[in-house]
Amino acid sequence: MGAIRIAVLKERAAGETRVAASPETVKKFIALGASFAVEQGAGVAASVSDEDYAAAGAEILPADKAVAGADIVLGVQAPDVALLKGAKPGAWVAATFDPFGQRARVDAYAAAGLEALSMEFMPRITRAQSMDVLSSQSNLAGYKAVLAAANLYGRALPMMMTAAGTVSAAKVFVMGVGVAGLQAIATARRLGAQVSATDVRSATKEQIQSLGAKPVFVESVAGIEGEGAGGYATEMSEEYQKAQAELVSSHIAKQDLVITTALIPGRAAPRLITDAQIATMRPGSVIFDLAVAQGGNVEGSVPDQVVTRHGVHIMGYSNTPAHLPADASALFSRNLFNFLSAFWDKEQGKPVLDEEIGNAVRLTQGGAVVSERLK
Ligand code: NAI
Repeated sequence: MGAIRIAVLKERAAGETRVAASPETVKKFIALGASFAVEQGAGVAASVSDEDYAAAGAEILPADKAVAGADIVLGVQAPDVALLKGAKPGAWVAATFDPFGQRARVDAYAAAGLEALSMEFMPRITRAQSMDVLSSQSNLAGYKAVLAAANLYGRALPMMMTAAGTVSAAKVFVMGVGVAGLQAIATARRLGAQVSATDVRSATKEQIQSLGAKPVFVESVAGIEGEGAGGYATEMSEEYQKAQAELVSSHIAKQDLVITTALIPGRAAPRLITDAQIATMRPGSVIFDLAVAQGGNVEGSVPDQVVTRHGVHIMGYSNTPAHLPADASALFSRNLFNFLSAFWDKEQGKPVLDEEIGNAVRLTQGGAVVSERLK
């Protein structure tokens, strides 16, 4: 039995700077008995050179040769099927697939007989935490959002007492306190801002307080008690949305930076801030919409542009983790390694998934779409 072959391609999507393997994970996969091919230049945008991969034991090849005979292809964003022609029949592709947004690509994987493993569908269970790319990337995104907003803001974040006078601390409001929101709170606090935050899940109240920020919650209508199914939120009732809009209206006028992170899996992002609310904010304030690529939490936000409305700057990146390519790639790569290595079958010399995680992440198999969530 030959060693199984793993390949990593250079990402093709516009603006994608990340790469799905690091020299560290290449070395670890080889230690498990795999052979590893990396497309030339795959890591350049993430500050990893071909020499670094070669030193870790990878073969550096053009795309078609890297994929030729591959049992497993790793990606940040799933490659187009056309790039995978030379892979083994039934080869696995472990990457993010945006399964709801890019259904045609999932169907193409099925038609090509490939097995698509969608990292976004990793279940939120304790043993899968180290495999969860949504968490590793959201954490970095929450950090970067605060830095980007602070950079655009024409004032300072911490209070400063200088000989020329006092600069007051900025007020930062974080909407949506999942993984990205928690890191946004922590980052804004480290920068010396006064931070408040809100969510629909009541379990986040304590988390907000423990980071030294002030919870601002809808009290008149019940939100989601505790964590919500799988840790995720659902769409809220009209009554809740109305109460939330009133709460935001009274709070937001006093805020300098607002970071929005609210997402609902499989749906457009909830609208949290309207143009009329933006009009009440002080000119020069900044809103960073981390959900801009999923439809946006903020009225008028446009991916990768700064839009100025009523003197308030609204921004958001289509791909925030791609703005920290080195760390984002290192963590993404480790998530993939943690995933595949946890299931490594020593006798077969390859990973064999169990039902709970396998059935959750597997989109296609044997020529068909098999994911329950896509049926
Ligand atoms: P997410 O990215 O899907 O959503 C971000 C936040 O927006 C969530 O906190 C959500 O409640 C909030 N939100 C949704 N609609 C909203 C609205 N209308 N107004 C205000 N806020 C709204 O969530 P994320 O960051 O992926 O994770 C959510 C939770 O999942 C975490 O706090 C954690 O408890 C759990 N989790 C568990 C993991 C595990 O056990 N393996 C791994 C990662 C997260």
